[in-house]
Amino acid sequence: MVSAMSEKVFLSGIQTTGEGQPTLGNYLGALKRYVDLQNEGDSYFFLANSHALTVRIDPAQLRHNTLSMAAWYLAAGLNPKTATLFVQSQVTEHAQLAWVLNTFSQMGELERMTEYKDKASRNKGNINAGLFTYPVLQAADILLYQPTHVPVGEDQKQHLELCRNIAIRFNNLFDQSTFTVPEPFIPTTAARVKDLQDPTSKMSKSLAGQGCVFLDDEDKVIEKKFKRAVTDNEAQVRIDEQNQPGITNLLEILATISGKSMEQAQADCADMQYGTFKQAVADAVVAKIAPIRTKHAELITNTDELETILADGAARARTVAAKTLANVYDTVGLLKA
Ligand code: TRP
Repeated sequence: MVSAMSEKVFLSGIQTTGEGQPTLGNYLGALKRYVDLQNEGDSYFFLANSHALTVRIDPAQLRHNTLSMAAWYLAAGLNPKTATLFVQSQVTEHAQLAWVLNTFSQMGELERMTEYKDKASRNKGNINAGLFTYPVLQAADILLYQPTHVPVGEDQKQHLELCRNIAIRFNNLFDQSTFTVPEPFIPTTAARVKDLQDPTSKMSKSLAGQGCVFLDDEDKVIEKKFKRAVTDNEAQVRIDEQNQPGITNLLEILATISGKSMEQAQADCADMQYGTFKQAVADAVVAKIAPIRTKHAELITNTDELETILADGAARARTVAAKTLANVYDTVGLLKA
């Protein structure tokens, strides 16, 4: 877990929303990245189940989704002995630090969060205080572990910036370096895998049509979705985001899944007809995802083992989180338990 050689500490979380199974976009943009990062430094990856409460969700579904998402992390190759994998609600320091950080966050800066404004406009009947302070809990998630890098997608950039501002403000106010100020770590490719039917929009569950590939889709379904992917009339496999967004998206998927550069993927496929090219991308995706799907199905039937892994992860996370929280309590003058 602790590598003396490396100074890097990675931390990221995935919300366990009620939207169902993760997509190929979630896999390439988050899960696969985490798995790749686990050997490059200390790493903390967690299931943000407390965040999921900010939108109405059925309790049984929330419980199930939390375990299922943990199983996807493991199935994708996260080694719980190398990375610290845990559930947010099982490390109570998250809620405790979030409270303190609430008092160091300004209404004005939270009101500017575009994700808040967006969710509030879509959930007019339930604009709860948790939705408003969501980014403060996220800041607590991060700052407890003193990470140097927070791998997230482009859409989380504003939350990260807020987290940095809170950390800097706190450090300056008390004239000490309580918190490491983390860097956002946004990938250059696969930050946004696009929908196969609408390659100008992010691949998203809410569109959930033929353009969205789910990790638990059967091989045949995956193939069909790729076969129907929108392309163009250029008849040339080429990176051209402007004029060939569909083909470019397919190249990005192929490159990311096979660990190649976009240019290399383009060179490999330059002579292919679109039909052959789509089949090649589908084959690469199926080869990667089918074993993950099988492993997930296996893990989710044995929740005892899963719960043991998560309890161990929470215990390890807590030793780090408790230290930061104790330091914060001392700094602000709160008596400790
Ligand atoms: N808000 C993030 C998302 O929706 C999930 C998240 C919660 C997170 N806490 C975090 C991501 C801390 C990185 C670090 O994707």
